[in-house]
Amino acid sequence: MADNATFFFQEKIAEMLERRKTVQNGGGAERIQKHHDAGKLTARERILELLDEGSFVELGAFVEHLETGLMEGIQAPGEGVVTGFGTVDGRKVCVFSQDFTVLGGSLGKMHASKIGKVMDLAARVGCPIIGLNDSAGARIQEGVDSLSGYGEVFYRNAIYSGVVPQISAILGPCAGGAVYSPALTDFIFMARGSSFMFITGPEVIKSVTREDVSFEELGGADVHNKKSGVAHFEYDNDKAVIAGIRDLLSYLPSSATEKPALKPSKDSKSRATPELLKIVNPDQRKPYPMIDVIHAIVDDKTFLEVQPEWAKNMICGFARLGGRSVGIVANNPRQMAGVLNIDASDKAARFIRTCDCYNVPIVTLVDVTGFLPGVAQEHQGIIRHGAKMLYAYAEATVPKITLIVRKSYGGAYLAMNSRDMGADVVLAFPSAAVAVMGADGAANIIYRREILNSSNPDATRASKIAEYKTAFDNPYVAAARGYIDDVIQPEQTRVQLILHLEMLEGKAESRPFKKHGNIPL
Ligand code: HXC
Repeated sequence: MADNATFFFQEKIAEMLERRKTVQNGGGAERIQKHHDAGKLTARERILELLDEGSFVELGAFVEHLETGLMEGIQAPGEGVVTGFGTVDGRKVCVFSQDFTVLGGSLGKMHASKIGKVMDLAARVGCPIIGLNDSAGARIQEGVDSLSGYGEVFYRNAIYSGVVPQISAILGPCAGGAVYSPALTDFIFMARGSSFMFITGPEVIKSVTREDVSFEELGGADVHNKKSGVAHFEYDNDKAVIAGIRDLLSYLPSSATEKPALKPSKDSKSRATPELLKIVNPDQRKPYPMIDVIHAIVDDKTFLEVQPEWAKNMICGFARLGGRSVGIVANNPRQMAGVLNIDASDKAARFIRTCDCYNVPIVTLVDVTGFLPGVAQEHQGIIRHGAKMLYAYAEATVPKITLIVRKSYGGAYLAMNSRDMGADVVLAFPSAAVAVMGADGAANIIYRREILNSSNPDATRASKIAEYKTAFDNPYVAAARGYIDDVIQPEQTRVQLILHLEMLEGKAESRPFKKHGNIPL
């Protein structure tokens, strides 16, 4: 009897192992070889690279398609996607990884259902969901069922937005529906040279608009990281992308109900920052590297910049101060004098909201003359886009610290999180200037008549500019009214920021009831 039972199980186990092997082989040796030859990892190799060693637990390996539409008789091992959970640096994550070797990673109904299941699991237990995308879009053979599948995924992307971090890697030619799920997530990573994102490919474009464009020019990693602002990070290959995801996760909590983990550093909290005296150019018209200011202040000079190649007049990224994860938003005087334009406003607003979703305090470093004037900006809606920044800062309830490094003028003073827009604390360097606008422009407007009527207009203009500078080009008018809480020595920047962050730990801020706000999109 016992022998019979053992034999019975051995047979069943052998069958199960055989079935599993078929699933693990994906689209077969030939397609896997082609994939490797293109310098890419397979769906499973990517998961193993992402997760802590030995932590992967697969779900839904035996899921099969429903033979609907033109799918009858077609083999699709694992339904073209590997799903499951594991850990990254010991913390739980859910993951799905599309298998391009199986029908081009195209998404059918059951493929979508596998993805939906791990998304639901991530939301239920409160852990990040990471999508490793490599898909030719809707599975054409399944017709409307594949569109329904996309609906299932998009719906969950939206519903779980702000619930758990959602991170997407684009690791192949992602077309059609395959780009909209990533677009609904918090961050998009791309691999240079091997990943593409487009709604319609070069051939369709040629037939519709007669434009001749290559894959790379249409939707390569460079395009989406430098021009469109669709993606957030660009790395050289699959492995580097995956290392980037692990790094990003370290700054984020597992869900919106948690705070990011503390990561103590050997970098002393009381370290002075005298180098700032040399980095910040005292001449208001001269640029300097704001990125160096950030590196000087944060723990271990480590800053993970988000969208470093797009809207470079605005710097956004993650760092730590005294072991606490912070989001840094800073004007970049080296790029268009750090002015706020449409792209910079979009970039900052999105980043601020991401930080707020996941309880990451925001440190804002200000050096800005204003919004970019011009017909093109006005006609493209700088009012609507700039409003996003105002909205995002006001809406955010995480600790918000603002440091005015040099100048802060006009609308940009408000948009860069002034006291009245909800900053918990505003600090300024002694060299900071806070005013409605720069001295030259202001003097020309308010003293126009005196200047024009003067026997020596140039001398009068110069003396009026000097008068205005004396009155406003300093932080003390704003400090006298409590708009600035303290004027600090640059050497004390790191110390001060950490002290205020520690003070703001546990900050709670409630808002009037609403269904949801209506950010100007
Ligand atoms: C089913 C597909 C497929 C698809 C490719 N394949 N696309 N199977 N549905 N959408 C299959 C191919 O038949 C092939 O199978 C394998 O995947 C690899 O495809 P290749 O073309 O050989 O690969 P490659 O040359 O690398 O080109 C990749 C590609 C191209 C650029 C992605 O395949 C392509 O343009 N596919 C169509 C993309 C597309 O238009 N998708 C639908 C979008 S509409 P074998 O058996 O030979 O390996 C959409 C609607 C949703 O997504 C919209 C929601 C908003």
